[in-house]
Amino acid sequence: MKQYSKRMVVAHWLTLALLVAAWFLGDALDEARHTGDATLVGYIIHAMIGDLVLLVTLLRFYFRRKDGTPAPVGTGTMDKVATGIHHLLYTVLILLPISGAITIFTSPVGKALLAWDASLLPKKFSGVVAHEVHEVLVSVLILIVVVHILGAIKHQFVLKDGLMSRMALRKQD
Ligand code: HEM
Ligand code: HEM
Repeated sequence: MKQYSKRMVVAHWLTLALLVAAWFLGDALDEARHTGDATLVGYIIHAMIGDLVLLVTLLRFYFRRKDGTPAPVGTGTMDKVATGIHHLLYTVLILLPISGAITIFTSPVGKALLAWDASLLPKKFSGVVAHEVHEVLVSVLILIVVVHILGAIKHQFVLKDGLMSRMALRKQD
């Protein structure tokens, strides 16, 4: 096998799109909460997009098992680092949505949603550990995605080994 299966590729790029959306919506929510403009619908939409990330990631594990993956391009230290980064990415893709869901259950956001009363939404998340974890994981995700992208750029423009084509939607001959 030279490339990832089509559904693995679709899941990879769909995850990127969902993450960008969840990130912007999360940041917008954070800002709106500080100005007192956060809405219940805003929390629901952010949570739904974030949960889709979790769902697509779980589907990806299933596709990975069923379809397999192309053999690593090399066996050097940097190839092992790249595989470690992939594992880290998958771990954060699971933990980030879970920490978001726990934030809702363990903060007044949950009560506000149940009562459908936006006036119950919190101004601050004091003492909500899951919210702190969620924030830290967002930063960790950004950092490792940047390293991952730098790796892809190196393969594309320095090593020129065609690695990017393994994640391309178009089938190679
Ligand atoms: C995996 C994709 C996700 C990403 C990239 C993401 C990103 C963010 C970002 C950037 C923030 C703003 C920083 C902060 O206040 O912590 C945030 C806040 C938040 N997220 Fe997520 N999130 C994701 C998934 C979820 C899920 C699945 C839920 C709930 C089921 C959730 C619930 C929340 C809540 C309650 C906040 C606090 C908003 C506020 O400040 O008022 N997130 N998220
Ligand atoms: C512009 C952004 C991105 C580019 C150019 C890119 C590129 C690639 C490429 C070329 C591969 C194949 C590596 C190989 O064959 O060894 C790959 C794999 C992977 N990417 Fe990305 N990626 C991007 C964004 C992301 C994001 C945002 C995530 C998740 C947060 C992600 C997670 C992964 C994972 C987990 C794998 C390993 C797949 C597996 O073997 O199961 N990527 N990426």
